Amino acid sequence: MTGTGSSVRVVEDAEAVAREGAEAFVACVGGRRPENPCRVALSGGKTPEPMYRLLASEPTRSRIDWISFECFFTDERPVPPEEAQSNYGLFHRTLLEPLGIMAPRTYRIRGEASDLDLAARRYEALIRNRTSVFPPGVPSFDLVFLGLGPDGHTASLFPGIPVPDDRLVIAVWVEKLQQKRVTMTLPLLNAASRIVFLVSGKEKAKAVRRTLAPERGEESTPASSVSPRRGEVIWVLDREAASELPAAVAGTGGPERGRR
Ligand code: 6PG
Repeated sequence: MTGTGSSVRVVEDAEAVAREGAEAFVACVGGRRPENPCRVALSGGKTPEPMYRLLASEPTRSRIDWISFECFFTDERPVPPEEAQSNYGLFHRTLLEPLGIMAPRTYRIRGEASDLDLAARRYEALIRNRTSVFPPGVPSFDLVFLGLGPDGHTASLFPGIPVPDDRLVIAVWVEKLQQKRVTMTLPLLNAASRIVFLVSGKEKAKAVRRTLAPERGEESTPASSVSPRRGEVIWVLDREAASELPAAVAGTGGPERGRR
C-alpha cells in the first residue's frame, strides 16, 4: 500500500503519537506567512485530542506562528459544533479556545445543516476559493492528518461505500452508523503534499496490518487508497497499533528513539 515517499514510524504510545503529530504541525508552518499560509486538514475521532492539547500548551504553542495557518476538516458528523461527536467541536474546545486571539483561521464543515449534500458542495467551493484552485484543478493541502477505524475506514470513507471521484467533498450515507457524513474524497486527499496517519491502540492493529501489509487475496481497506500522487504518507503508529505488522514494514521509518 505504501507507495513512493511513504514510511512507517513506530513510537512507544499514544502520547508519542501526539508528539509526532505536533512536530509535523510545527514543521508545516516553518517559514510560512499569512499571505502564504500552511493549509492543514484535520481528521476526526478521538486520536487527535492529545495532539491538540500539546499544540495549545507551552512550549509547542509558542513555536508556531498561528496566523500562518488555515485549518480545515477531512470530515464531519451530522451534528452541531457544540455536540461531543463534532470533529470541529473537539478542535474548538481543545485548541481554538485555549489559543484565544492567537487561534488560526479555521473553516468547519456545517454538520448541523439540514441538507448535508449542499453543505458538502459549499465546503468544496470554500476550499477552492481559499486556495484559488478551480475545476479541473484539485487543491493541494500542505498537510493532512488522517485516522484509521478498526474496519479500515479513514475520514468518512468506509468499506463498501463507493464515492465518486469527480467530487472533492461529498455527503455519504453510512449504513453501519445509520447517519450521513460529509467527507473529503480521495482525489482531494491524494493531492496533498504530506499525509500523516496518527493511529494508536490495539483495536487498530488488524486494520493497520490489512492496510499496510495485506495478505494475498485480502480485500483492501479505504485507507489503502490513500496514496498521494506527488506527496508523502507517514504512518505514525504506537506499538499496540503496529503489533500485527511484519517487522519489515514496521521498520520502514525506524522507531523514533529519544525524540523529546
Ligand atoms: C471520524 C474520522 C474517522 C476517525 C477514525 C479513528 O470522523 O470518525 O475522521 O476516520 O479518524 O474513525 O477514530 P478515533 O481516533 O476515534 O479512533
